[in-house]
Amino acid sequence: MEIDVLTLFPRIFEGPLEESILKRAQSRGLVVVRVHNLRDFTHDKHRVVDDKPYGGGPGMLMKPEPIFEAVEKFRRTDSRVVLMTPQGSPLTQARAEEFSRVAHLIIICGHYEGVDERVRAALVNDEVSIGDYVLTNGALAAAVFVDAVVRLLPGVLGDENSADDDSFTDGLLEGPQYTRPPEFRGLTVPEVLLSGNHEAIAKWRAEWARQRTRERRPDLLKED
Ligand code: ADE
Repeated sequence: MEIDVLTLFPRIFEGPLEESILKRAQSRGLVVVRVHNLRDFTHDKHRVVDDKPYGGGPGMLMKPEPIFEAVEKFRRTDSRVVLMTPQGSPLTQARAEEFSRVAHLIIICGHYEGVDERVRAALVNDEVSIGDYVLTNGALAAAVFVDAVVRLLPGVLGDENSADDDSFTDGLLEGPQYTRPPEFRGLTVPEVLLSGNHEAIAKWRAEWARQRTRERRPDLLKED
């Protein structure tokens, strides 16, 4: 997969790429991420990227010209152009899986009060929100989005199966997990997990996943 990120704040986005699994995925050539400063696509002395909204109102909007120029430079026939915005449809594990099958992503990070509507109308294929809250900067949202997508690419996680038991993969939250020691400050590990009985362990985990989902996220439980 290749990803081109368009942002006014490349350093905000770059931090998460330089650590851990995202770093390793890049050095192993499983994903190529290029981060571009939208100011490099302006042509005036002050490198202006925003302007006042027509009709008045508070705040500034991102101007269309630098975004159009950048997207048109990088866009290919197999690209998906994604705008990070709180007005987008919510990012879910299912959507992350869908995006992980795209060959080339161009991600536009919003800033200020939003972007000129012509960017949406003419360039953007998908609008993505990472949650019902407003960030100061779409670069943070883009970093979350890239992390959720890249970890699903084949070979990125050490154990090929380790994304399979994630919370949400089967529509449920993951249940409790334990590691050594078997007793810590008087708190013990449930007996069944030490039993070596794989069938009983699977049953215990399934029950806990359902219980935890019922308690914390009843909205995720299908009516059946
Ligand atoms: N930009 C600002 N807030 C955002 C959000 N919640 N999701 C995506 N992009 C954003």
